[in-house]
Amino acid sequence: QRETKTKQKEDFSKGSLSLPQRPRRNRKSDAIRSLTRETILLPQHLVYPIFIHADSYVKPIPSMPDCQVHSISSMLEQVDMAYRWGVQNVILFPKIDVKLKSNTASECYNPNGLVPQAISEIKSKFPKVMVWTDIALDPYSSMGHDGMVGDIVQGKQKQSVILNDETVQQLCRQALCHAAAGADVVAPSDMMDGRIGAIRMALDEKGYTYVSICSYTAKYASSFYGPFRDALDSAPVDIPGVPKDKKTYQMDPGNALEALREMELDEHEGADMLMVKPGLPYLDIIRLIRENTTLPVVVYQVSGEYAMIKAATQQGWLDEKQCVMESLLCFRRAGANAILTYFAKDAAQWLVEQDDIARKSFLQ
Ligand code: PBG
Repeated sequence: QRETKTKQKEDFSKGSLSLPQRPRRNRKSDAIRSLTRETILLPQHLVYPIFIHADSYVKPIPSMPDCQVHSISSMLEQVDMAYRWGVQNVILFPKIDVKLKSNTASECYNPNGLVPQAISEIKSKFPKVMVWTDIALDPYSSMGHDGMVGDIVQGKQKQSVILNDETVQQLCRQALCHAAAGADVVAPSDMMDGRIGAIRMALDEKGYTYVSICSYTAKYASSFYGPFRDALDSAPVDIPGVPKDKKTYQMDPGNALEALREMELDEHEGADMLMVKPGLPYLDIIRLIRENTTLPVVVYQVSGEYAMIKAATQQGWLDEKQCVMESLLCFRRAGANAILTYFAKDAAQWLVEQDDIARKSFLQ
């Protein structure tokens, strides 16, 4: 002990440290760094969210630069481009004409509606692409809620609430409608109680046993969904007596144990994949769920996260490509198998290009 101390002091006075452990040795070159890297991000880990509407023009989304609401034909171009870079999963989000919205949101199971039409277009042109759909009433709801609004009576008190069981009935119809159109994965994002079990039963009853359910398991009542609600014009509206936020069904940002409770329920009810949403502020929840389930874990890098990166990079304050790649890699490190991100197409392209550059440099 004393000897090593003296030796260390000698070395130190000569200007060097005698260290048996020098972690920097494993960072000394790209070859060593890529050999020892613990986490890998590939295009096939990405799911590409696409906004669509029934119009034939492409509509920019001011709070989501470089993201648009697509027509059916430009949606197909997006799918094509993303697929060429290796993104094999897409998820559709419809902007519904205000005239079709109602409190019951019955347009959500119109077999000739926008989403069923979009699904069958994609499946007929790109049969290998997995089409995911969002299951929730909000794009179709005149109230801007994920469920139906109705009154309940408790004693002498009448109260407006987001109805649970009635909503679940609608969600089952929506899931069946998407399954009939050819959806591969339905993703309930509504946070009603019991919806996973009910949807699984409804699908199985009609023979759609091969349609997967990716549950938004831990979906938080987050302020990071703002740009998405701008894009779809789906924010909760001002109605006296009806809560203008989603806190009675989406989770409280302070809660982690509750995510485990939702996880257990979703597993029990037959979910195939479990989603955490939003992404970056909730990496601990991804890790928590990863360590407690054998199911694949999915994360959603939401519209507000996209907007933050875009805004800072447009100012020249951050480097877009590097920040995007870092955030996606960190989702993987936290334990996510798959990532829903508006950057999917660009990130996949960057990954392929990086790989090409690396390969070419070996040949020199
Ligand atoms: C609908 C839904 C929302 C998002 C995905 N599905 C909005 C919400 O819950 O208010 C948000 C996604 C994003 O912000 O990118 N239930």
